[in-house]
Amino acid sequence: MHFGCTLIDVAEIRAQIPVCQRVTYLNTGWSGPSPRPVLDVMEGQLELESAEGPASPRALEVSHEIDAEARSEVAALLGASVGEIALLQNTTEGISVILNALHWEPGDEAITFGLEHPAVLMSTRSLERKGVTVKVLELGPSEAAESILAGLRSALGPRTRLICLSHVQYASGLRMPLADICHLVHPVGVAVLADGAQAAGQMPLDLPALGVDFYSMPGQKWLLGPDGVGALYVRGDRLRTLEPRNPYLTLRRGTDPSVDFSETSRRFELSTSSMALRAGFTEAIRFIQAAGLDQIQTGNRNLATRLKHELDSLPGVTVASPMDPAASTGLVTVRLPGVAAPDAVRTLWARERIAARSIDELDAIRFSCHFFNTEEEIDHVVTALQTILRKVR
Ligand SMILES: Cc1ncc(COP(=O)(O)O)c(C=O)c1O
Repeated sequence: MHFGCTLIDVAEIRAQIPVCQRVTYLNTGWSGPSPRPVLDVMEGQLELESAEGPASPRALEVSHEIDAEARSEVAALLGASVGEIALLQNTTEGISVILNALHWEPGDEAITFGLEHPAVLMSTRSLERKGVTVKVLELGPSEAAESILAGLRSALGPRTRLICLSHVQYASGLRMPLADICHLVHPVGVAVLADGAQAAGQMPLDLPALGVDFYSMPGQKWLLGPDGVGALYVRGDRLRTLEPRNPYLTLRRGTDPSVDFSETSRRFELSTSSMALRAGFTEAIRFIQAAGLDQIQTGNRNLATRLKHELDSLPGVTVASPMDPAASTGLVTVRLPGVAAPDAVRTLWARERIAARSIDELDAIRFSCHFFNTEEEIDHVVTALQTILRKVR
């Protein structure tokens, strides 16, 4: 077997991910398959709650440990401090929390991009109800960083308050120049809210170095955690500039009267959550960290590059994702001549047990290459697409 990343023991990783035994799984950008240790800790937690009682002194003690470990693993993953992390349900929730906690005046402006995932685009557009002007900038699936920055520069105005964008574009895997964007807009008092759905678990992250103000991320995609748990980073100096719409934890001091949540990002959390999910989330981050994010980043790009080059050489096939490695990730999006993308996705699954998805805006198929995938799987996709294309000619 040939692997995308030679520094990771991919065979060992694959042995722990049940789907790898059955399916060519290339849909991690939608939801990643959890490895066995993640499944085991979640099952163990549910068993403990069932055997000891979910709010027994023993289970509560364990809950506090799980909670603290989840916060510290997320903080380490993002290069943040524990007080800057809120544990939420998913990326979209974190975006919504920030958009609603900022103070908006009618006539204020927010900027986003036309290619964005609805979690970003529709959420930002919802500010229009508050009288905010939302500028939606055009963005090509492989747009160059200089062009993105130039577009932003000319869109900034005296009333611009926020840029809301994905760190990595879901439609094509384009890596946005996030640090440069922060550098451009911060001096004119504009904040940056980034969606890390397609970035967390694919690349090393150092949010203070990126300079981003707010960052929302899920557990269920490249981190290989369960659905229903994610995290929001609010930069420490930004905490006081926000007013959470939910007053519950802001007012509550918890069981320890010395803890005042109003000084931490926990003030954006709503209420009770599943400890099994949080434990699974923590275990997933540990699994990813053990493999190494530098190695994952390189391995994913290698696999993606192989797939892009192979597909680019097929007659009529267009690669929508960037070819420049610096702007690339493990996401590969391609258009096939004469075949509707949803039909191709269905055929890949029905005939070959290849899991991918279509991106309807681009009428394209998206493949997600993660560190558990192999070069043989990439070649499997290429052969399967060649067969589909032969049939339409
Ligand atoms: C860029 C981006 N943002 C947000 C989401 C939605 O994520 P969640 O379900 O964690 O809210 C997705 C899911 O595909 C995504 O790709």
